[in-house]
Amino acid sequence: MAKRRDEGEDGEGESVLDEGQAEAAARDVDEPVISFRDVHVAYDRPILKGVSFTLSPGTTKIVLGGSGSGKTTILRIMLGLLKADAGSVVVDGTEVTALSEEEMRDVRLKIGMVFQEGALFDSLTVGENVGYRLIEEGKLDEAEIEARVREMLGFVGLATHFDKMPSDLSGGQKRRVAFARALVARPQIMFYDEPTTGLDPITATTITDLICKVRDLDGVSSILVTHQLRDAYNVARTFMIKKDDEYVTSVVEDVSTVEGTEFMMLREGTVVFEGSPHELQTSADPYIREFLS
Ligand SMILES: Nc1ncnc2c1ncn2[C@@H]1O[C@H](COP(=O)(O)OP(=O)(O)O)[C@@H](O)[C@H]1O
Ligand SMILES: [Mg+2]
Repeated sequence: MAKRRDEGEDGEGESVLDEGQAEAAARDVDEPVISFRDVHVAYDRPILKGVSFTLSPGTTKIVLGGSGSGKTTILRIMLGLLKADAGSVVVDGTEVTALSEEEMRDVRLKIGMVFQEGALFDSLTVGENVGYRLIEEGKLDEAEIEARVREMLGFVGLATHFDKMPSDLSGGQKRRVAFARALVARPQIMFYDEPTTGLDPITATTITDLICKVRDLDGVSSILVTHQLRDAYNVARTFMIKKDDEYVTSVVEDVSTVEGTEFMMLREGTVVFEGSPHELQTSADPYIREFLS
């Protein structure tokens, strides 16, 4: 983790977090931001069969696994959209398994989420889409919301698109607007559910770069569900700093040295692998080898 933290400290990175929030994110470095302990969920049949993992502050957990293995289910549980039948789920110090809908709302405010489809409101402008959550919340006035929305659009490289409609945007731009929308409440935790699906490799890189940018400039902790190994490794090996108003990207070729990214592989509701990018690459497990090939 040394590399990422050092860079974060020297760079006068323009943070999307308030100072207080950045402090909160930096504290309790060893305390996991998220922990799952022996979580079970069943619909008509068992879906998660004793899933355990932790997410350390400022790191990214990349969740791999075939379709139907339970990846989205894990995110839904942390968002309180689904209750675990057994086990413990702690999000930022709060056990969420027994929370009321009202209490869950406070937890959800700490989390930003980018879905596969982006799911923008077609009848709202880009700016209205990004500001939606703040408008609903009603805590900030119009000028404050506009300023925040413009800042977020700048962060995702779409500063001039404030008044556009979603139908005016390319697929990659829509995904970046969805990203800005997820960041607007300055979450300390981000979930990405297959955020690059359907994008060409170059456009996909603009999304994985953003994932690295919030991780490195703001210390945001994240869970990335993907079946694109290429994107997963790009997230693990790309590091961002801000220097003199420019974002500088460095790409580490040899993933055996990178820290801050952990992989987890699910198979039929069970964690079959957890480890570093290097451990994944060098795993001799036949199932993993086949998944990676
Ligand atoms: N509401 C539901 N009712 C019944 N089964 C469901 C429901 N939601 C998901 N499942 C089942 O749970 C399993 C895991 O789903 P999911 O977590 O979405 O998989 P993944 O995201 O890994 O593709 C799948 O077999 C899916 O069919
Ligand atoms: Mg899914």
